[in-house]
Amino acid sequence: MTTPKQSNEVEQQPPQNEPDFSRRRFLKQGTVASAAVTMGLTTEAKAESSSAIETINIGVVGTGGRGGGAARDTLSVNPNVRIIAMADLYPKKCHSMRKSLARRYDERVSVDDKNIFGGLDGYRRVLEHPDVDIVLLTTPPGFRPSYLAEAVAAGKHVFAEKPTCVDPVGYRICLEADRAARAQGTAIVTGTQYRRQKNYMEVMRRIHEGQIGDVISATSRYCTSGIWNRPRKPGMSDAEYQLYNWMHFIWLSGDQIVEQAVHNIDAMNWLMGGPPVAAYGSGGRFTRPTGSQMWDNVSIDYAYPDNRLLSFQCRQIPHTKGENGSIVYGTDGIATIGAANKGASIRDRAGKEIWSMKGDINAAYQQEHKDLVDSIRAGKPIVELAETADSSLTAVMGRLAAYTGQQVDWDFITQQSMLDLFPKDLKLDESLPMDSYAVPGVTKLI
Ligand SMILES: NC(=O)c1ccc[n+]([C@@H]2O[C@H](COP(=O)([O-])OP(=O)(O)OC[C@H]3O[C@@H](n4cnc5c(N)ncnc54)[C@H](O)[C@@H]3O)[C@@H](O)[C@H]2O)c1
Repeated sequence: MTTPKQSNEVEQQPPQNEPDFSRRRFLKQGTVASAAVTMGLTTEAKAESSSAIETINIGVVGTGGRGGGAARDTLSVNPNVRIIAMADLYPKKCHSMRKSLARRYDERVSVDDKNIFGGLDGYRRVLEHPDVDIVLLTTPPGFRPSYLAEAVAAGKHVFAEKPTCVDPVGYRICLEADRAARAQGTAIVTGTQYRRQKNYMEVMRRIHEGQIGDVISATSRYCTSGIWNRPRKPGMSDAEYQLYNWMHFIWLSGDQIVEQAVHNIDAMNWLMGGPPVAAYGSGGRFTRPTGSQMWDNVSIDYAYPDNRLLSFQCRQIPHTKGENGSIVYGTDGIATIGAANKGASIRDRAGKEIWSMKGDINAAYQQEHKDLVDSIRAGKPIVELAETADSSLTAVMGRLAAYTGQQVDWDFITQQSMLDLFPKDLKLDESLPMDSYAVPGVTKLI
């Protein structure tokens, strides 16, 4: 992996001994706002150097469903941002996203044709663009760790969709990117929207305050009736087909437990105050299409510190009962947390409801982008990658426990496992092995 030239290396340096409150310097260094205060600048000058700063420019990498959603979220909630660059494997997807966003946001979608990039290297052109301040990383998850590392090395602020890794090697890359972003003062906000959803925040606050007594255990389910499958088109190479139908290839998606259920696992890590110490579980597949590597059901017991248990399951099987949410059992009561807009409630041991609150997931999606931009403007960039990497790895740990039929410990997966699913020397037009799905007792824990 080569690292693109740091974009601030090519910027013109300000004259010596003069404070530089230029837009680029402000946006890239989290300390400038506080410097303005300590240097006793006038209110007017402070405004110029902070909230009245010029428009923040955004580049989108991966212009599929969520790329469009994240772009809309930031444009809706942040008045002074605009989209100026896009990359996707297929430039036509950038063109169609540009068209659809421009219908609503006009000139705030200001992407010249020369700033639309295709192919597997397109993301680098966005990272090299000197005017891009924030990148939205919304490709399939397999690319996330290396793109995160390169985005941080290029001095960009980042919004990164979940999951942030699909294997332990990717996890360690995320931790390093988290450290590097903190050191240089750039932001990383992640797409774990429940952490910003008001009913989730409130129920967690109440649980952590002790309103259901001591937490003993929890049940969390992410059970739905299926997921999309994109059949191979004539002329597609193996690599292109896998990227196109990415959900079904573990190096790209991590399987359902990582790609989707990470939301619930992240909420449970939040509840428990950190990741579990061990996972044990099982699962399998009845209904996946031929060639898919995904399983369609997994059940995991996660052991958390202080002998607390999470009983977790996820399933994607047609005509089965969907259920998405968590129940938390405490010594004095029970909290129910429904996914999306289902709301949260707390009952006492007799079953009497003592508190409830509706959910608004769309507001949470937007809040991620408001918090990101506000934190940059305030000179206090949020960096939350390590937390989301922990949750992504918790999901990976469950998957590996089920795939191998072994107990998997946090110490092993964080420190010893060398599992690296990303293909060496990936090229779009070439063949790429299409391994079969995992079989417990045969699939090894590495
Ligand atoms: N937070 C949420 O609730 C939420 C919801 C949906 C999706 N997501 C996440 O967003 C991500 C994308 O999901 P999606 O539903 O948008 O998928 P998608 O298939 O709709 O879009 C992915 C896009 O990335 C492009 N792409 C693939 N590899 C690329 C690469 N190397 N460089 C540039 N572009 C590349 C594809 O061509 C496609 O346009 C996933 O990580 C998913 O988990 C999060």
